[in-house]
Amino acid sequence: MKINKKTSWAFMALVLIAWSCADPGEVSPELNDPDDEDMGEIAIPLKELFEAYFPIGAAVTPQQATASSPHGQALQTHFSSLTAENVMKPDALQRVKGQYTWTNADQIVQFAKDNNMKVRGHTLTWHSQSPDWMFYDENGDLHTPEVAMKQLEEHITTVVSRYKGDVYAWDVVNEAMFDWDPNGQIIYREDSPWFKIMGPAYIDSAFVYARRADPDAKLFYNDYNSIFSWKRNKIYDLVKRLKDNGIPIDGIGLQGHWSVNTSEADIRTTLDLFRTLDVEIQITELDLPVYTSNDEADSEVYTSTFSFRQKVAYSMIFNVLLDYSDIITNVTFWGIGDDHTWLDKPGRKAFPFLLDEELQPKPVYFEVQNLVLNR
Ligand code: G3I
Repeated sequence: MKINKKTSWAFMALVLIAWSCADPGEVSPELNDPDDEDMGEIAIPLKELFEAYFPIGAAVTPQQATASSPHGQALQTHFSSLTAENVMKPDALQRVKGQYTWTNADQIVQFAKDNNMKVRGHTLTWHSQSPDWMFYDENGDLHTPEVAMKQLEEHITTVVSRYKGDVYAWDVVNEAMFDWDPNGQIIYREDSPWFKIMGPAYIDSAFVYARRADPDAKLFYNDYNSIFSWKRNKIYDLVKRLKDNGIPIDGIGLQGHWSVNTSEADIRTTLDLFRTLDVEIQITELDLPVYTSNDEADSEVYTSTFSFRQKVAYSMIFNVLLDYSDIITNVTFWGIGDDHTWLDKPGRKAFPFLLDEELQPKPVYFEVQNLVLNR
């Protein structure tokens, strides 16, 4: 059942009653709106706001996934799904061949289990953040396809088996398509060592190994820039080929490293196209930096201009995602709040999330909340 206006307002009323009865000093800091223009509004936790549509996730570090930390508390308040930002990648789990390091990934999975959250696994097969031994022998030469395939099978089988039943969706293959090619002539990322060793066969095999290790896990192909025509069509062709050949794939992850300029038509066209593949869609790495271009002046201050842009862009995006909620089965931010994001550079902050650096709801949060309540 979707949240309708009636249930939303009933919830709001309950929150208001509880709030008015409480000692003001006891009001949860996560639920305060720091911006004057929105004073008086009560933030509905994101996971409740979107409960009828899709789980809402965040990418996290193991340090953030602890109940005693402010980040852990923000996660408990707002999120129903977690992704490891780095610690489930191949170089984190098996930096040395045959020696697995589980502690950090286990920390995130246990925190998710303790808090009734889903876990998306990221990622099993990638050209980046993967140890050299996966690709090269002791002389620095690329492995034969047989050796590389065996090692890939061993890695995927071990990792997926360990988290069987705990990780509900895996990014089985990450970023395998060539990125910038408006003419669509280069299909795959040919500089990937995986591709150099065996062409695209590793993609097919990775999905087969993952399905064998956990038949119940949802298996995703995950990529960025997927809403642009040149890449969207390649991803469509890949997934169509996999499905036509009986390769087990359940969905496409759109990373969602979008911008305040992102085009509504590009997102809708992509979702319309991917819908025809009869797969699930997950938005796996959503963030929206505040700049309109790389040339715009750096800022370490969240200005009203940035706030306005994000209100417009995030409202558009969530309006679209709700329109397609029959095929979208998870929306995950690539972080929790504006204090920690891969997008920040010295002197230039990106402020890409709905929660600010103190993990409090920003004005854009309330814009999104009102959008959902008024649908
Ligand atoms: O591994 C070293 C560690 O030993 C050292 O202590 C630390 C100190 O700075 O650096 C560590 O490596 C960094 C790693 O994150 C872990 O913090 C790398 O330098 C840094 O490049 C790496 O960045 C990550 C990036 O993937 C690497 O490609 C980002 O945190 C992470 O957010 C980002 O996530 C990717 C997704 O996996 C795939 N889609 C794109 C997305 C954004 O780039």
